[in-house]
Amino acid sequence: MSELRGLRLRLTLSIALVLVLAVGATFFAIYRGTGSRLRARIDHELRDEVAAFTARGVPAGAATPGAVAAAGRRYIAAQPFRASARLLIERVAGAGVLTNQPELVPTSRERGEPSREQLAEDRQARALLGAPAGFSTLELRDLGALRLRTATVRRDGRVAAVVSVGEPLAPVHSAQLDVAQTFALAGALTLAAALLAAYLVAARTARPLRRMAAIAARVDAGDLSPRIRREGPRDEVRVLADAFDHMLDRLETAFARQAGFLADVSHELRTPLTVLRGQLEVLARDPAFTREDFDRVERIARAEIARMEKLVDDLLLLAHSDEPEFLHPRPVPLRPYLEELLAGVAATADRDFQLACSTDGMLPGDPDRLAQALRNLLANAVAHTGPGGLVRLEATVSEGGLTLAVEDDGPGIPPDQRALVLERFHRLDVSRSRSTGGTGLGLAIARAIVEAHGGTIRVGASAAGGARIALTLPDRRPADARAAPAAVRYGAARPAGAPPRA
Ligand SMILES: Nc1ncnc2c1ncn2[C@@H]1O[C@H](COP(=O)(O)OP(=O)(O)OP(=O)(O)O)[C@@H](O)[C@H]1O
Ligand SMILES: [Mg+2]
Repeated sequence: MSELRGLRLRLTLSIALVLVLAVGATFFAIYRGTGSRLRARIDHELRDEVAAFTARGVPAGAATPGAVAAAGRRYIAAQPFRASARLLIERVAGAGVLTNQPELVPTSRERGEPSREQLAEDRQARALLGAPAGFSTLELRDLGALRLRTATVRRDGRVAAVVSVGEPLAPVHSAQLDVAQTFALAGALTLAAALLAAYLVAARTARPLRRMAAIAARVDAGDLSPRIRREGPRDEVRVLADAFDHMLDRLETAFARQAGFLADVSHELRTPLTVLRGQLEVLARDPAFTREDFDRVERIARAEIARMEKLVDDLLLLAHSDEPEFLHPRPVPLRPYLEELLAGVAATADRDFQLACSTDGMLPGDPDRLAQALRNLLANAVAHTGPGGLVRLEATVSEGGLTLAVEDDGPGIPPDQRALVLERFHRLDVSRSRSTGGTGLGLAIARAIVEAHGGTIRVGASAAGGARIALTLPDRRPADARAAPAAVRYGAARPAGAPPRA
């Protein structure tokens, strides 16, 4: 749970970090952009202003310094009042300094010992008057940063005047400050809103995960019944929840089957044990038992022990059927193999045994395991037919592989029971089963064996009205080998002179 809380926090913090970086980068770009755009405009205006000041403040016709100074004074006096306090300075060679802001550039000073203040003002005035030609930026005491453009004006090859126009940079700074303040406010609000949204989204995302964790904990504690049952769109969480529910369904079924299987096994073992104990009690109770009594008890005990042994063997076989070493495939010629198998069963019962084998190929699998499966099918056919009844073993080849089927003319298996009889311990007529010796494992074993070969088992009806159980074994050779005529495995005829196929 604490990890999920951590997930929520991490998600929120990641979104916050991305947002802070994005807002920061945008702020930086706009802050810098605002500054440089305003500075460029100021430079542009200064360039125009210096050009006008030069043309009219130092007119080409003014021959003497006095005439230049008079023109300069006229130009300065004609300037309209400006809020931006634009600074104009004209130094006329041989006629002193003219300016619209004498407090910045004192043109005369009273005699006497200069104060600290005056010394600083003088330094500032010297810096203004000594600014190099072109653009420069000066730091002034009262105005702050000042952008200055200075031009030397020559008339008839001589320096007539030096003109400077200055514009304070304070508006640029205040515009930038505005941007910073707006961003700080908007950024803080956006960040707060985004953090809240991120937290809610993260909490919403984590909620089903927390539910899953809680359900997993209950399952871990042994309760397989809870399900997530998530509704809504099929997003990743829904897919995960569905997979989780599906897994629990399967687990529950598997556990139920396991429990049922154990109950069945116990029940099947209990019956012969009860019989054995009953017989021993008969012997113990009757001190005058005869030889015949003893033989009868021994016969019954042996039969029950044999039944238990078969049961245990069958269960062990089923338990091992999905292990890799369960099968030991080896090629054996199919027809003699089936003939021998059927002859073995035919010796034990009086039935009309028939073999129909339409192929001369080899058996694709483990002959011992497959013989076991086929014997189970043949035993069932014998058990469900009377003397002279039909028991037919058939081998056919098709696209899907080799099919080995056992048919009889007995009562058959009803369609609704055909899937069930393949389950362990499932019998149609339980009351009859003990007399016929069935425990209900024969078909389950046949299925396990054929599935271990990668094949399938089908329960159906025979043409004679009885049951037909078919095992289909896939042909596992590569496709090109199958296509080549000489390699046809179960072909009825082999080309003359061709070597026997393995
Ligand atoms: N050929 C058949 N005809 C009619 N019913 C059959 C046939 N084969 C099987 N069944 C039915 O299917 C059930 C399951 O068969 P399966 O071979 O698995 O068990 P069994 O024969 O009862 O016991 P086991 O084979 O373990 O000794 C049988 O009990 C029987 O009811
Ligand atoms: Mg059987």
